[in-house]
Amino acid sequence: MAKKDLDWANIGFGYRTTEFRYVANYKDGQWQDGFLTEDANVTVNECAGILQYCQEVFEGLKAYTTKDGHIVTFRPDLNATRMMDSALRLEMPPFPAERFLEAIDEVVKANADWVPPYGSGATLYIRPYMFASSPVIGVKPAQEYQFRVFVTPVGPYFKGGAKPLTLCVSDFDRAAPNGTGHVKAGLNYAMSLHANVTAHANGYDENVFLDPATRTYVEETGGANFIFIDKEGNLVTPKSESILPSITRRSLLYVAEHYLGMKVTERPVRLDELENFAECGLCGTAAVISPVGKIVDHGKDICFPSGMDAMGPVTQKLYDTLTGIQMGTIEAPEGWIRKIM
Ligand code: PLP
Ligand code: COI
Repeated sequence: MAKKDLDWANIGFGYRTTEFRYVANYKDGQWQDGFLTEDANVTVNECAGILQYCQEVFEGLKAYTTKDGHIVTFRPDLNATRMMDSALRLEMPPFPAERFLEAIDEVVKANADWVPPYGSGATLYIRPYMFASSPVIGVKPAQEYQFRVFVTPVGPYFKGGAKPLTLCVSDFDRAAPNGTGHVKAGLNYAMSLHANVTAHANGYDENVFLDPATRTYVEETGGANFIFIDKEGNLVTPKSESILPSITRRSLLYVAEHYLGMKVTERPVRLDELENFAECGLCGTAAVISPVGKIVDHGKDICFPSGMDAMGPVTQKLYDTLTGIQMGTIEAPEGWIRKIM
């Protein structure tokens, strides 16, 4: 076996079929033993719960090649527990955390040739997901489920890499008060597609979604949380019940405070205070930290002083520290890195 011959620096964020994926079925009230398969297709009944009532949850994390040549994942235990929380919210049987971690190790090892080399700018995206596989026609949870994990090598989520993004404040909501915005369910993403296509058609890179109850606070985008740097160089990030608890954001709060000596605050952030911030970024597994240069609120431009050419200096420090930890050039806090091989 040899590393795949891809132009790693230019692969973009897309799906490529790799050799192996993991499958485990839930039947008769329990999770069965899982296995690796080369079959990338899923066959389900026409009335499967996933197809009719969207009973599905997923996760996203990455495998990295470290400077010294190991393959590692970053805080996969947090993905395991978040997926269990998501499953419970959708009345699905949680897939046990320890088995989740082992399944990921197995799939990454089996597809080791697809893990991009250190320094290539690409990483291996890992997509665990589970869905209702048995038929339901009355609105209720299914009896049977399937858990799967596939991997695909990816480059930067946003075209243009580290070039600052322009966002628009959306007229649509991605979540509902007391809804499912805080869990990672496919239905939240279906909700956001029309807003996403509309934003792109109007020339914007992404949407800023506001809090669905009052539309006065900033929540997140369709696939990442926000971080803001204030004029004193400290980190502020929105707190809300309806945003996804990003593992990247939670990690950055720790990195900012304990590695960079910054003050960090998690609090509701009003749309009308954005102009007071010095820097803005989107954070997530796919987004890593993508700088935002400008947010357009119905004709009003909110321009961050960091500008449209490059990442702001504090955002850059956060980016370098986080990716240094992930790639093994900066010592990680205890338990953050899981060595696969
Ligand atoms: N918010 C949304 C809606 C997302 O889809 C993601 C991606 O997973 C994030 C935030 C970032 O979360 P994480 O850092 O755990 O990848
Ligand atoms: C991730 O960052 O893992 C996500 O799920 C976001 C998605 C937009 C790709």
